[in-house]
Amino acid sequence: MERGGCLLLFIFVGLLSSCAVEGLGVNWGAISQYRLPPKVVVQMLKDNNLTKVKLFEMDDSIMKALAGTDIEVMVAIPNYLLRTMTSPNAATKWVEKNITQYIGKGGVNIKYVGVGNEPFLTSYNGSYVNATYPALKNVQTALNEAGLGDKIKATVPLNADIYLSPTNNYVPSGGYFRPDIGKEMEDIVKFLDKNKAPFTINIYPFINLYQNPGFPFDYAFFDGIKYPLMDKDTPYTNSFDAAYDTLVFALETVGVKDMPIFIGEVGWPTDGDRNANKQLAEKFYSGLLKKLGSNQGTPYRPKQYIEVYLFGLLDEDAKSVDPGNFERHWGIFTSDGQPKYPLDLSGKGKNKTLVGAKNVTFLPKKWCVLKPTATNTSAILQNSKYACNFADCTPLGLGCSCGQLDAKGNASYAFNIYYQAQAQKDGSCGFDNLAMVTTKDPSQGNCTFPIMLAPPTPSPAPAPAPTSSHGPSSSSEADDAESPKPSSSYYYGPSILLALAFQIVASFFF
Ligand SMILES: *[C@@H]1O[C@H](CO)[C@@H](O)[C@H](O)[C@H]1NC(C)=O
Ligand SMILES: *[C@@H]1O[C@H](CO)[C@@H](O)[C@H](O)[C@H]1NC(C)=O
Ligand SMILES: *[C@@H]1O[C@H](CO)[C@@H](O)[C@H](O)[C@H]1NC(C)=O
Ligand SMILES: *[C@@H]1O[C@H](CO)[C@@H](O)[C@H](O)[C@H]1NC(C)=O
Ligand SMILES: *[C@@H]1O[C@H](CO)[C@@H](O)[C@H](O)[C@H]1NC(C)=O
Ligand SMILES: *[C@@H]1O[C@H](CO)[C@@H](O)[C@H](O)[C@H]1NC(C)=O
Ligand SMILES: *[C@@H]1O[C@H](CO)[C@@H](O)[C@H](O)[C@H]1NC(C)=O
Ligand SMILES: *[C@@H]1O[C@H](CO)[C@@H](O)[C@H](O)[C@H]1NC(C)=O
Ligand SMILES: *[C@@H]1O[C@H](CO)[C@@H](O)[C@H](O)[C@H]1NC(C)=O
Repeated sequence: MERGGCLLLFIFVGLLSSCAVEGLGVNWGAISQYRLPPKVVVQMLKDNNLTKVKLFEMDDSIMKALAGTDIEVMVAIPNYLLRTMTSPNAATKWVEKNITQYIGKGGVNIKYVGVGNEPFLTSYNGSYVNATYPALKNVQTALNEAGLGDKIKATVPLNADIYLSPTNNYVPSGGYFRPDIGKEMEDIVKFLDKNKAPFTINIYPFINLYQNPGFPFDYAFFDGIKYPLMDKDTPYTNSFDAAYDTLVFALETVGVKDMPIFIGEVGWPTDGDRNANKQLAEKFYSGLLKKLGSNQGTPYRPKQYIEVYLFGLLDEDAKSVDPGNFERHWGIFTSDGQPKYPLDLSGKGKNKTLVGAKNVTFLPKKWCVLKPTATNTSAILQNSKYACNFADCTPLGLGCSCGQLDAKGNASYAFNIYYQAQAQKDGSCGFDNLAMVTTKDPSQGNCTFPIMLAPPTPSPAPAPAPTSSHGPSSSSEADDAESPKPSSSYYYGPSILLALAFQIVASFFF
């Protein structure tokens, strides 16, 4: 396999070849007010030497755009289909319809099928615990029966909350699987091992920091820390390594030693929280990519290539903010395909800029802002709230990119983002006569008042975005990925829970 070849090259020759670049993957999710055309996104992948992509849903237009490229693809079976896939017949049909028709000469280079997305998250209350292993088994069996088993492997992308270390031994070598899913994990691990399929895990140091005020800040990054976590004689200087190695030890508790591990998601958001900004994202990625590029591995699995899918490619400004306001800002690009900060994906740490989306057209340079003469505070507030129900106001939060705006600036931001989401439609900058259109860019400092992408056709403005998370009506919306409606794709992405192991690691520093 190519991965093996690359690994050997690094260990024995020690050269910095292009393997790290060529081996880098990215998650492509697209829950946005406007989706970039798939062809444009595929061009971005090529332009930035991103050679692997992970998807969350089957989408015919995406598959067509990927066809004929060398890009390796991990396709996905969403959680709401897991129960269906417990029927071998359904799995066979899914493979026929969603895999077989896309592969072959000039087709899509599908290498993996992600069965479910973090199905064992504790916040799902065990909803998918029974279905996941049978679904995995049936999908791989269907692949095997279609003669694709050697080329395409089924795996289950899981969140790092599936394993932990005991409270009296808070170190990676204490790692074991969460007891409530212990039996299922053992079945899954042994099955993956038998099929030579990788284990896929999502690791989020940002979430550790977000959820634990006491989490040692530097431990989320890769620049070294004063007091490493000592696991016997082994020092751990970052939570990524600790999370990875805890998993390696957990795998050993079920008797599997050398299982390949993929990082299904890892990344840092740029807005929506005080620790979510471009500067820290750049710091995180530059450390991560240098580490990956040098193939240093982790303390317990040193000197090896780690297969990684960054999370994510694009911001998704219509995603649910249940996990936190940062949820819409994970992209290394904005949702319209513009680079946010310097990033050298080759891992060589150079000052490089990513290559943005080509062929995209923006709406005219017009913004909607609060009239200087507007004074009715309650009316302003009411209209701002309305605007934020239908557009993304997460940058207004405390410590966020537009967190320093005053009340009037806030209203302008809300009016504008609504106006753009409505594709600058006539009448969408009304707000009870409190607002006006201007050609003077109201952006200030870190706070950008965006101009949206022009809709692909000269169509009427889109329906209000399905973003209900700002409105009181939706506050009770559960993260329940049951219904097979398109919005079920809201459940994917970085999830919410952190590995207990991290909490545990954190307490070392008190
Ligand atoms: C961009 O536009 C050019 C010229 O119209 C076209 O040849 C090219 O295929 C387009 N690229 C993408 C990625 O859409
Ligand atoms: C992509 O890789 C090619 C060949 O290795 C290199 O010439 C090019 O500069 C790389 N592009 C980026 C954006 O890193
Ligand atoms: C193909 O995948 C899509 C989305 O995952 C799903 O809705 C559809 O039912 C699948 N087709 C079959 C025949 O299972
Ligand atoms: C899982 O299966 C067990 C045993 O068959 C059953 O008792 C349990 O209710 C099932 N759980 C779910 C969430 O379906
Ligand atoms: C802009 O954001 C950066 C972090 O990305 C921060 O260091 C800087 O202070 C901010 N500037 C202003 C004017 O808030
Ligand atoms: C990186 O390059 C950009 C322009 O290419 C420049 O503005 C910036 O100062 C550079 N940053 C560093 C750290 O050299
Ligand atoms: C302010 O606006 C509210 C409606 O939001 C309206 O009921 C009220 O009369 C207005 N006050 C003034 C002084 O115009
Ligand atoms: C601006 O809006 C945000 C989000 O709605 C709010 O938290 C903040 O308090 C507002 N700031 C002012 C000065 O009104
Ligand atoms: C899980 O249980 C909690 C508490 O009982 C409930 O609030 C939540 O809605 C449930 N979530 C799901 C996905 O069922």
